[in-house]
Amino acid sequence: MKFKKNILCIGAGYVGGPTMAMIAYKCPRYRITVVDINPTRIAEWNSEELPIYEPGLDKLVRATSGKNLFFSTDIEGGIRDNDIIFVSVNTPTKTFGAGAGMAADLQYWEKTARQILQYSKSSKIVIEKSTLPVKTALAMENILRNTHSVSFEILSNPEFLAEGSAVTDLENPDRILIGSRETESGLKARETLVEIYANWVPSEKIITSNIWSSELSKIVSNAFLAQRISSINAISALCEKTDADITEVSRAVGMDSRIGSKFLNASIGFGGSCFKKDILNLVYLCRHYGLNEVADYWESVVKINQYQQERFILNMLTAMFNTLTDKKICLFGFSFKANTGDTRESPAIFIARRLLEEKAEIVITDPKALRNARADLAGVNGKISFVEDPYMAAEECHAIALLTEWEIYRNLDFQKIYITMAKPASIFDGRNILDHKRCFDIGFNVYPTGKPPLTHF
Ligand code: NAD
Ligand code: UGA
Repeated sequence: MKFKKNILCIGAGYVGGPTMAMIAYKCPRYRITVVDINPTRIAEWNSEELPIYEPGLDKLVRATSGKNLFFSTDIEGGIRDNDIIFVSVNTPTKTFGAGAGMAADLQYWEKTARQILQYSKSSKIVIEKSTLPVKTALAMENILRNTHSVSFEILSNPEFLAEGSAVTDLENPDRILIGSRETESGLKARETLVEIYANWVPSEKIITSNIWSSELSKIVSNAFLAQRISSINAISALCEKTDADITEVSRAVGMDSRIGSKFLNASIGFGGSCFKKDILNLVYLCRHYGLNEVADYWESVVKINQYQQERFILNMLTAMFNTLTDKKICLFGFSFKANTGDTRESPAIFIARRLLEEKAEIVITDPKALRNARADLAGVNGKISFVEDPYMAAEECHAIALLTEWEIYRNLDFQKIYITMAKPASIFDGRNILDHKRCFDIGFNVYPTGKPPLTHF
């Protein structure tokens, strides 16, 4: 079959894989190739066991893989043979040198730019899919302009999918944002990308802007989302002091249509690979431009998030007679949110480490994240075990700390669990998903987040 467009994506991760699978699924006349430097990852995309767990993704990949979706390690060939190139390589926080712990580490991004320059034999549209500091496209242009034979047009097309709901987010996005230079060639490239999304996204949801607004909007969206969580978590601390109930407060506040009800669930804090890194990047940018007050404002979102995680540990310590030494604590959930096996920046990592520091023994259960949990805690001193079955995991434990809002935890038989646990048995519900009154009636001491505890003392 002759394909209408040939598209390449560099970076076969949580963004590159699902995004390209959706384009391939919606556009059978396009040929999509996804390349990566990691051969294991590519082999997994080509196998029955995909490298990431994401509801609905299997179906998309099964329908397209080998037909119009291809995963490969041939980066050179990919660049040579495709004229539309998405780049979705990772952009983690820098861990060394200037800006360590704050700025985005752009080494993967720059290496990709240089490879595109080296292997291109024809003109290309290069699309920033990764989340990048504002003005990265300028650096990209400066690298790619070092040739006379071909030309490059850079677009910014940030990705807004959330893990666990990536497939529905991609299928039915709130908006698609495309930033370009406002030159004739920039606007033409922008149209080419609009055409791709128009295959399934209604035109009123495809918005365009200048390239810097597009780069900045992505980071700001994440900062606003994270800010809501830190806001509600800060108030959860006040609720615990005043006998107010955070669920009731969120409902009352969220019913104001100007505020809205989403993203107001108090928790153990936000995790995931992006919120913290993107806010720190925003903070770094503001400081770079001398906007210290603005930087401090956004930095406080991350500080409250750390405070909330530490507060969870201190609440456990206080409730369990100020010592956790040799107590067995079961962690229900390790992924940073439900419906994903991803544990990057999961609050569970911090909580597990802190419990081990307090010399507790921990048992970790999670339906999809045990492999990553093992890797995250490799080499950490202390007694840790990993048990798939939540009933077995809780046996002989003094407490359960519910860290991820997996649906299966709502429907467990807590009577059966209580019988097998050491007494007094406690539940710390870091997500407020359990029926607290029922757990209390069974015999548990129950410590929700941002609500009065229910104890038998
Ligand atoms: P990831 O680590 O899962 O995937 C990145 C992939 O890029 C890796 O497989 C890595 O091997 C590959 N890579 C790195 N350098 C390469 C190179 N030179 N050539 C080829 N491949 C290379 O990361 P991710 O979660 O997919 O995130 C990618 C970007 O998208 C980040 O900027 C992130 O902020 C952004 N983003 C992520 C999400 C999300 O939900 N994870 C959502 C929106 C935006
Ligand atoms: C987030 C954004 O929602 C996406 O739009 C964005 O594309 C993505 O980051 C990114 O740039 O990587 P994600 O991190 O996958 O997506 O998941 P979220 O649903 O945003 O949850 C993030 C964290 O906040 C999780 O730990 C979640 O449990 C927590 N959270 C969320 C709360 O604690 N309370 C809430 O009310 C909502």
